[in-house]
Amino acid sequence: MADTPIAVTGCTGRLGGRIARRLADQGVAQRLIVRDAKRAPSLPGAEVHVATYRDRDALSRALEGVQTALFVSAKEAPTRLEEHFAFIETAAAVGVETLVYTSFYGAAPNATFTFARDHWATEQRLREQRFSSVMLRDNLYLDFLPMMAGDDGVIRGPAGNGRVAAVAQEDIADVATAVLLNAREHRGRTYSLTGPQSLTLEEVAAVLSRKLGRPIRYHAESIEEAYRSRARYGAEPWQVDAWVSTYTAIAAGELSEVTTDVERLAGHAPTRLEDLPVT
Ligand SMILES: NC(=O)c1ccc[n+]([C@@H]2O[C@H](COP(=O)([O-])OP(=O)(O)OC[C@H]3O[C@@H](n4cnc5c(N)ncnc54)[C@H](OP(=O)(O)O)[C@@H]3O)[C@@H](O)[C@H]2O)c1
Repeated sequence: MADTPIAVTGCTGRLGGRIARRLADQGVAQRLIVRDAKRAPSLPGAEVHVATYRDRDALSRALEGVQTALFVSAKEAPTRLEEHFAFIETAAAVGVETLVYTSFYGAAPNATFTFARDHWATEQRLREQRFSSVMLRDNLYLDFLPMMAGDDGVIRGPAGNGRVAAVAQEDIADVATAVLLNAREHRGRTYSLTGPQSLTLEEVAAVLSRKLGRPIRYHAESIEEAYRSRARYGAEPWQVDAWVSTYTAIAAGELSEVTTDVERLAGHAPTRLEDLPVT
């Protein structure tokens, strides 16, 4: 159990919110670091601090005396890495000992999924600092799979027959909580968090059809088709590259391997798509 409050970022969001609630349930004192105090969850034992990742003064005050912090990766944006680096520098300067970072499965400088390269760059910056960090390399969120189907019930993307070992946010939250509660034991470790199955998108579509009670099918786009079908959103090229490369990373087999890290760290089997609550 931590002797000083655990700092938690991202707690106005889905993953960080789940982790903050679990820590509160365990009676842990927390510093919730948020951008908008009105949206902070109300939890016993939690103090709210307003700071962005780049606001050195406010962030220093929020992290003062903290040994362990959960560092949730920022929303995807061209400035994301600068924000991450600023957070890491401030955390190191105020003497945080362990940062638990929500990275991405297979983070690497040449990863097919473009955002996995940013996660690698963030991991590298963490390794260069004097504190020890713990990398939670999350596979694609299982919770995200139902959202891949368009209104017409078609999952479109250039994933070919590749497989994805998507992981539920509830399971990541269980792992993150276990790690935060015993941070010293996990320092310097990298965990790859996956679900229990590696599914093709055709298999995902079949499971979703049964769960949702409406037909869902997978259309394996070519890469050209994928860029064309996303052009109507008018998004910037870096964003479209990321959307498309989610699928090409699956096609390349970079998201396919199932690990035992969730079971080992959370103490229970990871959630199958069949069992994920969806509406
Ligand atoms: N593995 C995957 O499949 C996958 C998929 C999508 C995203 N992700 C990554 O995983 C993270 C957590 O996922 P989630 O579902 O919990 O996302 P979410 O519900 O959108 O929550 C993101 C949280 O991070 C905070 N945040 C975002 N950008 C920030 C910034 N620039 N500075 C400070 N705080 C910031 C948000 O604060 P506000 O409420 O103030 O915005 C919110 O609390 C995402 O932020 C993203 O980096 C992973």
